[in-house]
Amino acid sequence: MRRFLIAGNWKMHKTVQETEAFAADLLPRLSAGSASRPDILICPGFPLLAAAHKAFSGSAVSWGAQNCHAEAGGAYTGEVSVEMLKSLDCTYVIIGHSERRAMFAETNQSCAAKIKAAMSGGLKPIYCVGETLEERRGNLTNDVLQRQIVEGLDGVEPGVDGVLTIAYEPVWAIGTGLAATSEMAEEAHAFIRAQLRDKHGEKTAEAVRILYGGSMKPGNAADLLKRPNVDGGLIGGASLEAESFAAIISHAEALAEH
Ligand code: 13P
Repeated sequence: MRRFLIAGNWKMHKTVQETEAFAADLLPRLSAGSASRPDILICPGFPLLAAAHKAFSGSAVSWGAQNCHAEAGGAYTGEVSVEMLKSLDCTYVIIGHSERRAMFAETNQSCAAKIKAAMSGGLKPIYCVGETLEERRGNLTNDVLQRQIVEGLDGVEPGVDGVLTIAYEPVWAIGTGLAATSEMAEEAHAFIRAQLRDKHGEKTAEAVRILYGGSMKPGNAADLLKRPNVDGGLIGGASLEAESFAAIISHAEALAEH
């Protein structure tokens, strides 16, 4: 059984004041603790993490980062270490988002180093994979996913306690309003889980949550979350408004564990 994880990736949006306002809007919308409530996560920009810490402490919402550096510390101007994130009580860190791969030269290899650093420092990585439109059209989706999984998890021991999360985010679905169909998502997620099974065994494959990301909205969330290998969502645009984020959380709650 895997509990759903509904995670918001705020990208480069919101200020401290807007973070506080979002929390004040979201928290009353959440149901009182119940076994079926999904894990809920917000990943704001680095400067907003202290505000998220303050606003979400003691609530059902966790907070995490959108990136980290692989080194523990040193002369890396502008970078943020795992230890810094831990000192703000972050629980998760997104690694290898396609925007970072495309615009900030992240590679499967740099992702592997960051995933290892995150895990050994006590943060749960959310490792992003996904194909471009050209790759899908060229029938290369599985090849790309396989390479991202093999190389990005090189030297990583995911374990059986679900510390590692993978997010399948087809690049063509991100911010376009054009989500993958639930059939496409399920096919990719099942393929990713099969890769994990081959390399790390059944128990690990069953423990790893695989989130779908790319234009997930209240209107398509239930259909996606119904699929057996879709264990939650990594949500960009629809996580910026408390109303739409809460609506997606409600869909996950209605479907509960699967
Ligand atoms: P959108 O939900 O805005 O398509 O963004 C998805 C995403 O990139 C989450 O990491």
